[in-house]
Amino acid sequence: MGSLRKSLFAVFLLASCTGSEDTGVGAGRQAAYPLQAGPFTYGPMLGRGVTPTSMIVKWGTGSSAGTTVLYRQKGTTTFQQKDGAAAVDHEAYLTGLTPGTTYEYKVKSGSSESPVYTFTTCPDPGGPLDVVFYGDSRSDEDMHATIIRLIREKSPDIVLDSGDVTANGSYSSYLSEFFPVVQEIVASVPLMLAPGNHDVASTPSTNYARIFPVAKNESDPWRSYYAFTCGNSMFVSLDSNNASSSEQRTFLAEKLAEAKNTPSTEHVFVYFHHSAYSPGRHGDSSTVQSKWVPLLEDPAHKVRAVFSGHDHIYARLSTGKGVAYVVSGGGGASLYSSDDSSDAETVKAASVNNFVAVHITGKRVEAVAYDDKGTVIDSFQVTAPGGSGDIDAGSPRPDAGSDNNPVDAGTSGGGTVDSGNGGNGGNGGNGGSGGNAGDGDLEGGCQVSMARRATPPLVILLGALAAFLRRRRARV
Ligand SMILES: [Fe+2]
Repeated sequence: MGSLRKSLFAVFLLASCTGSEDTGVGAGRQAAYPLQAGPFTYGPMLGRGVTPTSMIVKWGTGSSAGTTVLYRQKGTTTFQQKDGAAAVDHEAYLTGLTPGTTYEYKVKSGSSESPVYTFTTCPDPGGPLDVVFYGDSRSDEDMHATIIRLIREKSPDIVLDSGDVTANGSYSSYLSEFFPVVQEIVASVPLMLAPGNHDVASTPSTNYARIFPVAKNESDPWRSYYAFTCGNSMFVSLDSNNASSSEQRTFLAEKLAEAKNTPSTEHVFVYFHHSAYSPGRHGDSSTVQSKWVPLLEDPAHKVRAVFSGHDHIYARLSTGKGVAYVVSGGGGASLYSSDDSSDAETVKAASVNNFVAVHITGKRVEAVAYDDKGTVIDSFQVTAPGGSGDIDAGSPRPDAGSDNNPVDAGTSGGGTVDSGNGGNGGNGGNGGSGGNAGDGDLEGGCQVSMARRATPPLVILLGALAAFLRRRRARV
């Protein structure tokens, strides 16, 4: 009934798209998830720059227009201005920012301006840093909105997303399904993605890559994998759709060596879509295991945790090498069940929508996984060598069970991993069968508005019914 109700709601939303001036796809979703007024089709959204003192700002307009970002330190009166070339998909690189400082900014295209938003630059190494990881938000905007609401309550400095943002990875689907849900958070918190298999179902260069920022210098070409440093941590985002790439393996090796040789970098977190180890329906990726895991588990490296999605569950696994393998594919897509098939030891598995909040202070890393009620389902800590010992686990949920098996905390990887007192994860899933790249599901968004034409009511109704049937099929 939820899907039917949603489809009927989509009829209302689609109807609201017709007969209106084109304000982008988001206009049709304003009733549910308000967007700013004006010609902006998405954004502004933030991306972490490749250095801690830079920030990337991206946004879209329905047609080519000017690119200007006005920004200033909060509390000051004069805006600085960064201009770029006229474009449909706008991108501006703000550099030379002051660490640990809150800025105000707005974007401008033509005569239209966004509201003023804020962002905060990375802290100096050692300063506290809060990061949230989640993924697989496709195909259920309502659940996605619930997860985003909970994520916002954690006030993260960065959100890391392991991809499968929408079902078919099309430009229009990102605008109609993703941004209406995330707009408010991505305007103030950098969202850094790794592409999932659904994100590459549509040609990335004309869809995914047009929209989503990657950490790079302004003059560098866009590529699907990247790394950036923030605080005392390096974050490496990989493209597991192409895990066999020798260039990408070389990139990973170089970044891990860089972190190893940088004393102020205490931790490395690596994230990508296809799990090296997972007890879920998709299971382990042998390619990721053979190409990347030896590097990730190299005792000389500083990898504390590896995050992935693809399986729509929460899980934490261990190979006994001091690296926590976390599967957090619970951003909205239909849930899967889990089993015992992984090559690694499953420390915790739960078929629930979820996200993981990571708090980093000095040599200590605390990670807490939450379900869609905001209840703790798991927690673990990592302490880098030379730290003052392991810290208390996160607070368990009131009905926390005892099914958490302690991680065999190896020491060869540098850090140590201790389990917390995570609670029972719930039994929400029944082993869905989604996940095929290329499954089209436009979710009944306002493509009508994007096309800049009015649509007859009958077409609207048929479109909504088709979306409903696709959604039902995707959930089988
Ligand atoms: Fe996937």
